[in-house]
Amino acid sequence: MTKSQRNEFDLLVEDIINNHNFKELDNETHHGISRYGHSYRVAEGVYKITKKLHFNYQEATRAALLHDFYFNYQLEENGDVKNLVEHPKMALLNASKYYELSDLQKNMISSHMFPLSKEFPKYKESICMTIVDKVVAIYEQQRYKVGMKLGVYLLFLFNMITLQK
Ligand SMILES: [Fe+2]
Ligand SMILES: [Fe+2]
Repeated sequence: MTKSQRNEFDLLVEDIINNHNFKELDNETHHGISRYGHSYRVAEGVYKITKKLHFNYQEATRAALLHDFYFNYQLEENGDVKNLVEHPKMALLNASKYYELSDLQKNMISSHMFPLSKEFPKYKESICMTIVDKVVAIYEQQRYKVGMKLGVYLLFLFNMITLQK
């Protein structure tokens, strides 16, 4: 990122990263790092790509930062696979408490687990979001157990097959 891009990015997300509740994500473990770190990395990736492609990068960057705004206590215990699919709803609920979200942003957050979830990415920014999130997650999950990865890929495959029907 160039210096001017860094400045622009910081301005775009300033109020979110200063939100006390959002900062708490730093205490949540996610892909072996903090959920705050993961969200920030995804937001940077979405910012760079959507700006380059002349998409609505201002809205997209903010939604990307908010895409995993949920806390482990809000999800079901031992419901790993279900939570993979359900957590975007919780993130959308939490983000909506603090921010006025556009339809694009709502869709970016709620569909970011597609095709693991069946919530469809309706905007080009949403498609960008799901791709960046997966690339970042795979990068961060290098230390995850093979079994967990296998389960996710099987669910992905299952949804791809059932979606075609
Ligand atoms: Fe997520
Ligand atoms: Fe994520």
